[in-house]
Amino acid sequence: MKVIPNIDAKRVPSHVAIIMDGNGRWASLMGKPRIFGHKNGVQAVRESLEASVEAGVKCLTLYAFSTENWNRPAGEVNALMTLLVKTIRSEVDKLDEKGVCLNAIGDISKLPAKTYNALIEAIEKTKNNKKIRLVLALNYSGRWDISQAGGKLSRFISENKIDPNQVDESMFSQFLSTAEFPELELLIRTSGEQRLSNFLLWESAYAEFYFSEKFWPEFRKEDFFDAILDFQKRERRFGKTGEQLKAIGR
Ligand code: IPE
Ligand code: IPE
Ligand code: MG
Repeated sequence: MKVIPNIDAKRVPSHVAIIMDGNGRWASLMGKPRIFGHKNGVQAVRESLEASVEAGVKCLTLYAFSTENWNRPAGEVNALMTLLVKTIRSEVDKLDEKGVCLNAIGDISKLPAKTYNALIEAIEKTKNNKKIRLVLALNYSGRWDISQAGGKLSRFISENKIDPNQVDESMFSQFLSTAEFPELELLIRTSGEQRLSNFLLWESAYAEFYFSEKFWPEFRKEDFFDAILDFQKRERRFGKTGEQLKAIGR
């Protein structure tokens, strides 16, 4: 593995998520249609994944399509769905060779059949890979996930499989679509926007936020490493005092 200057290998966030934003504005600056921005965002995905592998990140979650994104013009939604199929099909062998295990979160059953099928095939093909998890959030929103978790949990309770008195945070989180993934530690958003847009609401409770001014199609490996370096400068107190952390050597 390549040594990355200045990154402390012992304090790399195990789970990083990215709100990949700014494709449309970047394309407009280039005098091109919005889909040109989405197409050029694929390189930023490749570089973020490579940087994650090099840094030792175990799980990378990318917000690719929100439940709210269905409200965009049909032409853009269709073009995005087609781009997803093409990208998944053209990248899956490389992902497999690199040891990437592809996952998805969100209500993927509502995606167009061709997108759903390409996704399921790629997930199946890469399911035994161990190097890194790449999670695509598709037709995803944080509120959707919390609601569906509540629904599942209620069914278990009504079937007497769970005692409602036993329900706590750790049990509830087992019903979320992110249950198997490591704790989210770093959340990056590009394009200068500073909001969650219904992403990982439950999971971001104690994540560090990093906002980049770059539009997503301009985001490169070095930008990803900058985010990790920034993360490593922070003191994560989890409600404690700085003095308490020093006393336990953190
Ligand atoms: C992010 O870029 C990609 C998706 C939401 C699919 P945008 O398409 O939101 O680009 P801007 O924010 O309009 O520039
Ligand atoms: C969030 O970006 C969704 C994705 C990156 C897929 P948006 O561009 O849709 O977010 P808002 O609407 O500006 O908050
Ligand atoms: Mg946007």
